[in-house]
Amino acid sequence: MKTILITGGAGFIGSHVVRLFVNKYPNYRIVNLDKLTYAGNLANLKDVEECANYEFVKGDIVNGEAMLSLFRQYQFDGVIHLAAESHVDRSISNPTEFVFTNVIGTVNLLNAARAIWKDNRDDKLFYHISTDEVYGSLGKEGMFTETTKYDPHSPYSASKASSDHFVRAYCDTFGLPTLVSNCSNNYGSYQFPEKLIPLFIHNIRNKKPLPVYGKGENIRDWLWVEDHARAIDVIFHQGTVGETYNIGGHNEWTNIDLIKLMCAVMDRKLGRASGESEKLITYVKDRAGHDLRYAIDSTKLQNELGWVPSIQFEEGLEKTIDWYLDNEAWLENVTSGDYQKYYEEQYSKR
Ligand code: NAD
Ligand code: TYD
Repeated sequence: MKTILITGGAGFIGSHVVRLFVNKYPNYRIVNLDKLTYAGNLANLKDVEECANYEFVKGDIVNGEAMLSLFRQYQFDGVIHLAAESHVDRSISNPTEFVFTNVIGTVNLLNAARAIWKDNRDDKLFYHISTDEVYGSLGKEGMFTETTKYDPHSPYSASKASSDHFVRAYCDTFGLPTLVSNCSNNYGSYQFPEKLIPLFIHNIRNKKPLPVYGKGENIRDWLWVEDHARAIDVIFHQGTVGETYNIGGHNEWTNIDLIKLMCAVMDRKLGRASGESEKLITYVKDRAGHDLRYAIDSTKLQNELGWVPSIQFEEGLEKTIDWYLDNEAWLENVTSGDYQKYYEEQYSKR
């Protein structure tokens, strides 16, 4: 029996990782530690909450003492660290929160692992989940590899870059067994509707304006969240300590092409006239420091560990749209309360 800590397991990607591990590894005890911020939602894990090998602990990674006692209590064999503040626009409004959670929170977990594992580190692993945004912005050509120099531009990516550096520094300096992976933009079920795809599904359904930043020419490389969770499983079990793995879907879209595709799919699904939802597109003030293009080269992961994405984007997008249309209650729940205030603050000035 191994005890694995998954932080941020009530969030978008974390909930998919928890579900995969709880179902696939009945001999692991999965402990999900989450503060349940606006982005964390235990409804994301309804289907596994009764499983015997699953446990939820409410806690804040910024509290170093609490993290140390959690590690002392559970004697974790491995850590998969996803807890973070994750939205670029929020990091522009409130950068400091990102330093606390993403940087100090990560260092607190590293300190706790180091203190509890001491010299007994065989078979232990601290796996840190990061983003391709740490590499900065690409021009028209090229892709991010594991050796691309860090060049973060947003407070979000700067905080993730800093946490990545700390993770690697603890490996180099203290011999802590760590791993890092950097993934491209994820999409799929249970994503909070502040990110592009769920926000626009929500707005198209409700015939609300679709706020496209700038000219919509920015490019993102989209990966289905369940493929990211599968990659995390493969890297956690087969990755080499001290290494970095890039995860991506070779699936680049300009925002405007992606938005037009979403409009077309939703017109069909909602029985609207072709072209109706596109009329909702509204060009708004660009995001400050908006990175032009992200593209991940995941050759290392494919060649060394044999991971490849399982589904094509068009299929994944259809599944995703179907999920949000079928789960209206989930969307209603997460967009009640503070969401309206957030939306006003983000979009009324654009
Ligand atoms: P999310 O915002 O949906 O979820 C983050 C989770 O962390 C939430 O459940 C939240 O409650 C929890 N959390 C936040 N602050 C905490 C704290 N102080 N203590 C404990 N828990 C806290 O984020 P996500 O999109 O699922 O991203 C998860 C991880 O993957 C992040 O580290 C992010 O940087 C990384 N990532 C995300 C993407 C993407 O496209 N979403 C791509 C690559 C990497
Ligand atoms: P987002 O989902 O916030 O992910 P990230 O910024 O981490 O890549 O945004 C994806 C792209 O969509 C990005 O180029 C910004 C753009 N975008 C809009 O045009 N309008 C919006 O309302 C949002 C949230 C994003």
